[in-house]
Amino acid sequence: MMRENPPAAAFPRTRLRRNRRHPWLRRLVAENTLTTADLIWPAFVHDGKEPTAEIPSMPGVHRLSIARLVAEAGTAMSLGIPAIAIFPVTPEGLKSPDGDEALNPDNLVCRATRAVKAAHPALGVICDVALDPYTDHGHDGVIRKGYVANDETVERLCGQAIVQARAGCDVIAPSDMMDGRVGAVRGALDAAGFIDVAILSYAAKYASAFYGPFRDAVGSAKAIGTGDKRTYQMDPANGDEALREVALDIAEGADMVMVKPGLPYLDIVRRVKDAFHLPTYAYQVSGEYAMLAAAAERGWLERERVVLETLLGFKRAGADGILTYFALEAARILAHHQG
Ligand code: PBG
Repeated sequence: MMRENPPAAAFPRTRLRRNRRHPWLRRLVAENTLTTADLIWPAFVHDGKEPTAEIPSMPGVHRLSIARLVAEAGTAMSLGIPAIAIFPVTPEGLKSPDGDEALNPDNLVCRATRAVKAAHPALGVICDVALDPYTDHGHDGVIRKGYVANDETVERLCGQAIVQARAGCDVIAPSDMMDGRVGAVRGALDAAGFIDVAILSYAAKYASAFYGPFRDAVGSAKAIGTGDKRTYQMDPANGDEALREVALDIAEGADMVMVKPGLPYLDIVRRVKDAFHLPTYAYQVSGEYAMLAAAAERGWLERERVVLETLLGFKRAGADGILTYFALEAARILAHHQG
């Protein structure tokens, strides 16, 4: 139980503006801080030779070649960013109905992971577990009789987790929203000897229109078309259900949990943190990036300030860290402010 506040002296004895009077005083009374240690950088890797390729719906974000990813990962590390999350852009020819390429130990994300870990062993590498980068229909699982089949998908996800762990991935992040996948993946990792590979579960992941630009980036937008993922991702109407999802994932062995998207779901971040007290992350997703980037491009918002303000908002809501496409930029701004 929280103790009641002592009765506050009323105005004019109390003037809350007193504590806002000077920059030093504002710093002194600040309840939350954003540091580079709070940032996880999601990066897109492609198989092309071009070092970078534009993503039109995410101005300023690029698909990177493996060599370029390794170089930028080095920059991220030197800026103090603890970990990156690697997302592969699978060539169309390697996509199939059941997403077999996910199980190929030499697929793009595995090669990228090996290269990044070889160059920067001290940088954390996080890999998604879900079939959507590999399926020709763009869904996160295999389709049987017009429905994404849960248990058969989970078996495949276990195989995907193993090839990624073998490539050197430190944290497996199931983003597929199948039931029971965290427990199954934990069991598979343990049985294969990867007892120290952690699981960051996309525990409360909503069926959101804010993922649009990401689907452009990884090339699954056309396949999924106007279809949606509402039979497995959560209904934005629900909050209590998020707590059930998180509770189950913890019981199944999740080390850390995530809420996604970010800003429209800060109430969920706060509820999860208060209920479970475990490392809790939020994903400021592609559509959130696109909104801020577009408004800043038009001169409607000040980019630096809205980046820092939104990221601090995640901290205030109780997030221990944020996956954000602004990670490198925010780290540079923070370094500049401190220096
Ligand atoms: C794949 C996955 C998605 C995102 C992360 N992992 C897309 C989706 O579920 O359709 C979205 C990230 C973003 O929008 O930035 N399952």
